[in-house]
Amino acid sequence: MKVRKYFALLTVAILTAMAACQSPTKKDDQSIPNRKWWKEAVVYQIYPRSFKDSNGDGVGDLKGIISKLDYIKSLGVDVIWLNPIYASPNHDNGYDISDYRKIMKEFGTMADFDSLLNGMHRRGLKLVLDLVVNHTSSDHEWFKQSRSSRTNPYRHFYHWWPAEKGKPAKRYSYFDVDNNAWKYDSTTNAYYLHYFARSQPDLNWENPEVRKKIYSMMRYWFDKGIDGFRMDVIPFISKDTTFPPLPKKYHGNFLHYYANGPHLHQYLHEMNQKVLSHYDIMTVAEGAGVTSDEAMNFVDPKRQELNMLYNFEVMGLGLKGGEYRDLDSNGVSLVQFKKIYTKWDSVYGERGWGTIFLGNHDMPRMVTRWGNDSPEYRELSSKMLTTFLLTMHGTPYYYFGDELGMDNIKFDSISDYRDIETLHIYEHIKETGGDLQRFLNNEKMIARDNGRTPFQWDTTANAGFTSGTPWIKVNPNYKTVNEAVEEKDPNSTLNYFRKMVQFRKNNLIMVYGKYELLDQDNPNVYAYTRELNGRKMLILLNFTDHQADAHLPVNMKNAKQLIGNYSKTAEKENPLSLRPYEAKVYQL
Ligand code: GLC
Ligand code: CA
Repeated sequence: MKVRKYFALLTVAILTAMAACQSPTKKDDQSIPNRKWWKEAVVYQIYPRSFKDSNGDGVGDLKGIISKLDYIKSLGVDVIWLNPIYASPNHDNGYDISDYRKIMKEFGTMADFDSLLNGMHRRGLKLVLDLVVNHTSSDHEWFKQSRSSRTNPYRHFYHWWPAEKGKPAKRYSYFDVDNNAWKYDSTTNAYYLHYFARSQPDLNWENPEVRKKIYSMMRYWFDKGIDGFRMDVIPFISKDTTFPPLPKKYHGNFLHYYANGPHLHQYLHEMNQKVLSHYDIMTVAEGAGVTSDEAMNFVDPKRQELNMLYNFEVMGLGLKGGEYRDLDSNGVSLVQFKKIYTKWDSVYGERGWGTIFLGNHDMPRMVTRWGNDSPEYRELSSKMLTTFLLTMHGTPYYYFGDELGMDNIKFDSISDYRDIETLHIYEHIKETGGDLQRFLNNEKMIARDNGRTPFQWDTTANAGFTSGTPWIKVNPNYKTVNEAVEEKDPNSTLNYFRKMVQFRKNNLIMVYGKYELLDQDNPNVYAYTRELNGRKMLILLNFTDHQADAHLPVNMKNAKQLIGNYSKTAEKENPLSLRPYEAKVYQL
């Protein structure tokens, strides 16, 4: 036992040393055009509700995050993105904002926010907040005014359809029990538009007064010193306010229609000119509904709009979808997965810049979705996916808890769920007499709450997340999967994440190197190279639970392994042969 541990430690020490000596050469530094801090950053996303509770009410809060800043710093990440922390009745956990300039009561006060930002900046960490401006909460003062009468000055802050004109043309709602995005309101005998829940009415961006108010609110946060915004469903903001029936070419695809409003890019450019361009900040658009050939319209620097956009295409892989959110019985096709990442990489070419992520608060846990969460492979496959995220071309967005290898909780009962999305679909299926069990089975794989369970700090009650009752159940595996235990193990998923972050930091080639896919039809292995100024690295990732080979036109004779997720080298030294979920990076 002792001997094994010694060897493990030794391997870690060697790999770390190897990683450290690959620092960028001067030549690399100088010859790279358009270097930007946000291209070189690793972003760590925190769902504040579930990170750390400081006062025992069962809900994570800002003071909780403050108490863990040293931990976050120890990961080596550069930027923290926080999901919404503004005043909200929390129907959609903060994505329904009732006051953009106040902090959510459960999360703390503005003084807490100021000390959080201060504590981050002192440690060299940057802060990105969520900008949710497609809609507000129905509790927002603007909406209360707007709905009160047809002549109220705030009436046109939202979209209203007078009932005497008949029923408005169908618009689909993502979070409505009836899937209907028009809600009738008797106060003024009119329907209002809500792409999400009824309590999330859509703002009318065609009204210049609305845009003015939003820009001033953005400046308020930038003047406080925040370092950027992640922009919630930003492609949806502009609407054709004549509300015609869904044009033919969008039939069956409301998402794409919503992302193509008539003045979208005009508004983003205006936002850039009036606000963004005045600060050294980063912006990233939630790319819902945006196809790869539209992506450059958001991020081409010449257009002066935003910096980055999430690619949503990969999120649908392995899912059949439909009302029950059925899974594809063939699972996720790795060939497709590779194709999508490769296509998006080529879109950005020389001018744009991509993003890489495998998990967030709208997705299940990455190891369950893309790896293997069985006890045998949970750690190995987590490390393999971490290797992918940190060796790809594009800014990596890493979701809190994935560094521990946290996996889906897979609730059996609807009563354990908290998410408006799951609850509303369940209600809808119930009302229409559908198969509830089928839906619940699928939710074990894809429900958003799987990614929202509390962070697992240690082996004490509730994983050390709270001294009270957590707002959502803690994953029962916390006794083994937690930060305290993983700190002590040099081979833990956590320490592997740290090593990979350092590896990326020490090798500018991992940030700026050209990406090339190899062995594209291999259904088991993802192989690619990164190349910069004559240096070349090869990344090999086995996405299966069995041994698999890469078939490459590459001479491996002088190849040197720099890092990998197995602590012992294989008995048979064939660099192109990979053990289950093995991940290796070679210098060629
Ligand atoms: C985005 C958010 C999601 C939220 C929705 C409505 O997709 O990521 O969490 O529910 O927008 O704001
Ligand atoms: Ca709390």
